[in-house]
Amino acid sequence: MTTASATSTETQAIVATDLSKWFGEGETRVTAVDGVALTAHFGEMLFIVGPSGSGKTTLLSMISGILRPNAGMVQVKGADIWTLNNDQLADFRLNTVGFVFQDYHLFPRLTTAENVAIPLILKRHNWSESIDQANQYLEIVGLKGRGETLPVTLSGGEQQRVAIARAIISRPEILILDEPTASLDGDTGRMIISFVKEKILNASRCILIVTHDARINEYADRILHMEDGHLTATDQGAE
Ligand SMILES: Nc1ncnc2c1ncn2[C@@H]1O[C@H](COP(=O)(O)OP(=O)(O)OP(=O)(O)O)[C@@H](O)[C@H]1O
Ligand SMILES: [Mg+2]
Repeated sequence: MTTASATSTETQAIVATDLSKWFGEGETRVTAVDGVALTAHFGEMLFIVGPSGSGKTTLLSMISGILRPNAGMVQVKGADIWTLNNDQLADFRLNTVGFVFQDYHLFPRLTTAENVAIPLILKRHNWSESIDQANQYLEIVGLKGRGETLPVTLSGGEQQRVAIARAIISRPEILILDEPTASLDGDTGRMIISFVKEKILNASRCILIVTHDARINEYADRILHMEDGHLTATDQGAE
């Protein structure tokens, strides 16, 4: 959704400037993200595509307050997140961003509903109300009645849907999904992404999706390409 109105600073959800991350030093140094500039707007679903190892997860981790950059800046709603103190950063991760990890990161000893309820529990919401709400979100992602099961009993695709339910339960303004459809069959993957677009995306929310899955490209408002740590726009509504 890169209409003329979307160029206003008021619609800028994320602005990353000259963002870099490297691992190791000297001859073994790997530069995962190299001087990236990125603007993502409220109201848009932005895809980042690129080969394995091109730096996509590293970039998302820096944008979502998980991994501190070596250089550059990430502004979310105009605030530089990497100048926040640890408490403020924890608050940012809990309230402003929802992150669906590439490998789910579900807690194996918690039930499915408990996994989904974690963000609410961390916000000190009432336990049984949180579990009720978690069960509603499980229903939304097509897992009605599975709240009592342990994640290990679910398929990879089902676990991915649990992770999505957990990311959206606190209704974050920024939702980040790292390869959300990698382990889903085509129909389920499209169902999940169209659900996220129709029900979760709105004028005050921004959704960033990293994907290899060309079958879901049709849902993107804009697609950026990542290669060797660099980000380039395509002609699809590029800025
Ligand atoms: N913690 C780390 N320590 C050392 N190197 C790392 C670390 N994290 C990432 N890298 C390296 O940084 C580069 C980018 O990794 P990243 O995981 O961001 O790629 P990606 O595009 O997400 O790949 P994939 O599509 O396979 O998930 C890779 O060369 C990777 O090996
Ligand atoms: Mg990755």
